[in-house]
This record gives sequence, structure tokens and C-alpha cells, in this order.
Amino acid sequence: MIKVEVELPAQSAKSYPIFIGQNLLDDVYGIIQKHTNARRFLVVTNDTVYSLYGEKLKSDMSEFIILPDGEIYKNMDMLNRILDKALEIQLERNDAIIALGGGVIGDMAGFAAAIYQRGIDFIQVPTTLLAQVDSSVGGKVAVNHALGKNMIGCFYQPKVVIADTLTLNTLDERQFKTGLSEVLKYAYIEKSCNDKEVYNLFEFLKDYKDEILSKDSEILADLIEICCRLKACVVNQDEKEKGLRAILNFGHTYAHAIENLTHYEKYTHGEAVSIGMKAIFNLAYSLDYISEDYYISSVQLLDDYGLITELIDKFDVDEFYNAMFSDKKVADKKINFIMPIKEKEVAKKNNIDKNLVVQGIL
Ligand code: NAD
Ligand code: GLY
Repeated sequence: MIKVEVELPAQSAKSYPIFIGQNLLDDVYGIIQKHTNARRFLVVTNDTVYSLYGEKLKSDMSEFIILPDGEIYKNMDMLNRILDKALEIQLERNDAIIALGGGVIGDMAGFAAAIYQRGIDFIQVPTTLLAQVDSSVGGKVAVNHALGKNMIGCFYQPKVVIADTLTLNTLDERQFKTGLSEVLKYAYIEKSCNDKEVYNLFEFLKDYKDEILSKDSEILADLIEICCRLKACVVNQDEKEKGLRAILNFGHTYAHAIENLTHYEKYTHGEAVSIGMKAIFNLAYSLDYISEDYYISSVQLLDDYGLITELIDKFDVDEFYNAMFSDKKVADKKINFIMPIKEKEVAKKNNIDKNLVVQGIL
């Protein structure tokens, strides 16, 4: 079992561990009870994940709420359902909420834990690659609003994250690729994370492509560890996204516009992100921020992993550009882009000509 510690600034919530390995669900309460004093648990999950892994979390200490599956259900109604259930079963201040599922469940359950009785303990049990490398770590919790993604939420750190890599075996190809999109993101931003360690994730992804795509469990565990270490390093420097943490949104400014315009139904989050990353590489190259070699090798990596890089839909230029303003990275009415500027390095850029912005994607 691999352990990664998420160190947080002293004035903030306590630091917490991420455990990565096989069969961790077999003793999930054994791990959980070392990190919370809670004695009762509300497990938040969806019908798909419940049918696969619900049994493993059943115990006389836990009750379940099983929500419908899908990003379209990441909303205030479902949040209310979780809170209703917590009240019905009289979940108390010292009890805890467990998120069992992907990023949708993790974000919603975490937000419910943050606001129920002004905050109760929260445990992340991520079951998608995306959730294991990204959304379960770092404490961003939220639901979507009709006018924008993740617009209602807060920062609320879990007590422990338990990533059982065996759960990835039941993920379909599309969802696995969706997670790989966020994995590649770390390769493109590695140097900007300021980690003392050099992981050379870009090269790791090139060298172990076949093992990763065939879900070799040891290589996958190493891959998840690298991503979690990079994310933990960024969160340690900037927990509440006052600056550096925005680099984790590489490709996301385009992605959030795509998801919003297609009502979260057509593309998965990761697909929108891979299209967004190609678009930002196009933009950076057209602005001469990056060399031709780096542009080609970066886009090649997206292709090597079979990630979607082109929009199927045709959008009107103004419609698309306006949708980009619903992103949380908009400040002073300017769109802030996390732009590749060198190999594996990014920087925040704004005041970019609208035509160039949309040419990168439409
Ligand atoms: P998801 O939660 O919708 O899960 C994808 C699909 O996989 C769902 O149908 C789910 O039921 C199914 N699934 C989950 N685990 C499975 C398993 N082991 N086997 C088979 N099927 C399984 O999507 P996601 O990609 O995990 O997460 C996307 C969400 O995460 C978005 O809402 C995004 O905004 C959010 N996110 C949050 C952060 C953060 O920092 N909080 C970061 C990135 C993304
Ligand atoms: N996934 C973006 C973040 O955690 O900040």
C-alpha cells in the first residue's frame, strides 16, 4: 500500500493521508477508523457504484444514500437529498460522511459534509481514475448551477482518501480515458508544481503507455502516486486557489465552456479537458509561447493515449466565447488562461485576442 501525505498550511485543516493500493475496500473501516473518531457513517454513492462496491461498505455502523448516476445530477436537489437523509437518520456532529464513487459523488458528498451541522468528518473513497488522481484530493467540493459548473461549493478537506486501484478494472474505456486526461494534465504542468522531486511524468507516460492502457496494476499505482504527490504539493502551497493552484485547471477554461454549452451531457469532464488542452496548445503555439517541437510532442501524447481532442459540435463564435466567461477563472471581466510557456511549464495569461482564442478550438 502506497501512502501520500497531503500537508496543509498550519492554520488550515489537519493534514491527511491518501492510501493507494489493491483490495483496500476489503478493510475500509479498518483504515477509516484510524483517521476519524466517527462511529456512524452515511455512505453517499450512486446506483452504478453501489451495485459494484456497495456490499464492501455495508456494516452495522453505516447507512447508504444511493443517488442517480450522472453529472446532470450534481445539483442542489441531490445535495438536499443527502442532507435530508442525514437528518432522517439523525447523523450527529461526530459522525461522518463517506463518498463512494467518482468525482460527481465525491464533490457532492464533500459539500454535504461541509455544511451539515456546520461540518462533519468526510472520507473519500474514489472509484474512478479521475477521482483517484484529482478530485478526491485537495478539498474542492461543489455542485453545479444552471449558469455554471461547480459554482456552489467550498473548500473542505477529507480526513483520509482510500483509492483501491482494483476498482479501476470495472471502469469502461471511456471513463478510464477521462481519468487519463487529468493524468496528462499533470505531465504538462509538472515543473510549475514546484515539487522538490522530479517525476518526469511526461516521459513516464511515453515509456509506460502500453502498461497504463492495459491497466497494469503496479504501474497504475505508481502513476496515481505521482499525480497525487504533484497535486498535494500544489495544494500545500495554495490550498484556497489564491494563485498557484489555478495551474490545476490547465485546459479547463475551454473545458468548462464545452460542458456548459452541451449541458454536461455530451462529453465527460475528461473529454472536455482533453479537447481544452489541445486548444490551449494551439493557442500557445499561435502566440509563440512554445516551440514547434514541444507543441508536436504534447499533442502527440494526447493522440497516443487516444484522447478526444476535437469538438464534434459546431458553435457560434460569440456563443462559445461568452460561455468561457462563466468560468470561475474569470476576474475583472478577463478570461485567465493557464498557458503552456515552456516544456512542462505553465503561466497565467489574459488579454488574449478573442479571434485567436476561438480559433484554437472552433
Ligand atoms: P463520475 O463521478 O460521473 O463517474 C464516471 C462514471 O463512472 C459514472 O457513471 C460512475 O457511476 C461510474 N463509475 C464510478 N466508479 C466506477 C467503477 N469503479 N466502475 C465502473 N463505473 C464506475 O465522473 P468522474 O470523471 O469520476 O468525475 C467528474 C467530476 O469530478 C466532475 O463533476 C468534475 O467537476 C469533478 N472534478 C472535481 C475536482 C475537484 O478537485 N474536486 C477535480 C476534477 C474533477
Ligand atoms: N482540479 C482542480 C483543483 O483541485 O484545484
